[in-house]
Amino acid sequence: MDGHELELFCHRLPKVELHTHLNTSYSPESLRQLIALSGDTWEHAMEELHISSDRDIDESFKLYTKIQKLVTTEKAVYLLTRSVIKEYAADNVKYMELRSTPKEIPETGMSRELYLRTMIRAVRDCEQEGLDIIVKLLVSIDRRQGVKVAEMAVDLAEKLMQETNGLVLGIDFSGDPKVGDAANFISVFLDAGRRGLKLGLHLAELPNFEETRRVLKACCDHCVVRIGHGTYLHRYDQATGHDEVEAFVAERKIPIEACLTSNLRTKTVENLEQHHFKYWLDKDHPVILCTDGKGVYATSLTEEYIKAARTFSLTKQMLKEYVISTLDHIFASEETRQVLRARFQQFQV
Ligand code: IMP
Ligand code: ZN
Repeated sequence: MDGHELELFCHRLPKVELHTHLNTSYSPESLRQLIALSGDTWEHAMEELHISSDRDIDESFKLYTKIQKLVTTEKAVYLLTRSVIKEYAADNVKYMELRSTPKEIPETGMSRELYLRTMIRAVRDCEQEGLDIIVKLLVSIDRRQGVKVAEMAVDLAEKLMQETNGLVLGIDFSGDPKVGDAANFISVFLDAGRRGLKLGLHLAELPNFEETRRVLKACCDHCVVRIGHGTYLHRYDQATGHDEVEAFVAERKIPIEACLTSNLRTKTVENLEQHHFKYWLDKDHPVILCTDGKGVYATSLTEEYIKAARTFSLTKQMLKEYVISTLDHIFASEETRQVLRARFQQFQV
């Protein structure tokens, strides 16, 4: 397949996005609109916020904070959510789980609940409009904000899950992996699982071996868990001389959300060839291509598929089978999965 044919094919392929953060998923157009809403000037903010060069993980986190300053009002949350959904739909993503940290911003009258309700309103409006994409929401817990805020996030997620009949369906655990200890949140994760919320947990993004081991061992037998990044899961043995975590993940087939461009840009993976996507794929372990933040990393899900196909020599047929297999790991109901599977199977290679 030549380059152009591959690009067209990956765009046309129906896809599933399971790991994307609202505030890092803007497009140049939605960023321009957010800047205009904030009253800032376009040029300097655009230059600062739209990345095309690599930054290490600390620099990336500074950037996320700047973007979040543009998304503090109901109008901005609505605008961004709606734009992100439309852009994914245009990229032929048929199912997406979008995650975001609900914010409490007294100056604008924003509360955590209003933030999430605004996202829900945007999703509902896209449904009404007939966009060909199913969208579900995950409520993010930012590890920098501590356990008390995490507990509030779980309460809100449960309440909204019940009210929306499963449009909200889980929690995300994210934030700077250099801050705090994920193991301190184990009771929060278990509580969320007991309430029927699914868990998308950023783990082993850096060599945080001990917290990764403790969280997975405590939660995986009681909750539905997917791992965000998991970059260091298979490097555990090099650091400690044994492969306990990798074996645990492999045995239970815990799905891994793999974000190629994001990991390259934040320099947690050296090059595409060495990306752990291939390592796990070769083991027939569930590993799902995701974007993480198509705005900050200047990518799209189509682009991630193109990169994976080029680097790992995936054929059209392999890509079709792969994308059908990603449906096994969505957090939505079996019924939704079956509807999507039937559609994906009809896709003409
Ligand atoms: P928001 O939750 O919609 O505001 O999206 C931005 C937030 O997502 C950041 O403040 C982080 O907490 C989280 N985030 C985005 N990318 C990453 C990542 O690569 N690792 C951990 N957390 C991340
Ligand atoms: Zn992420």
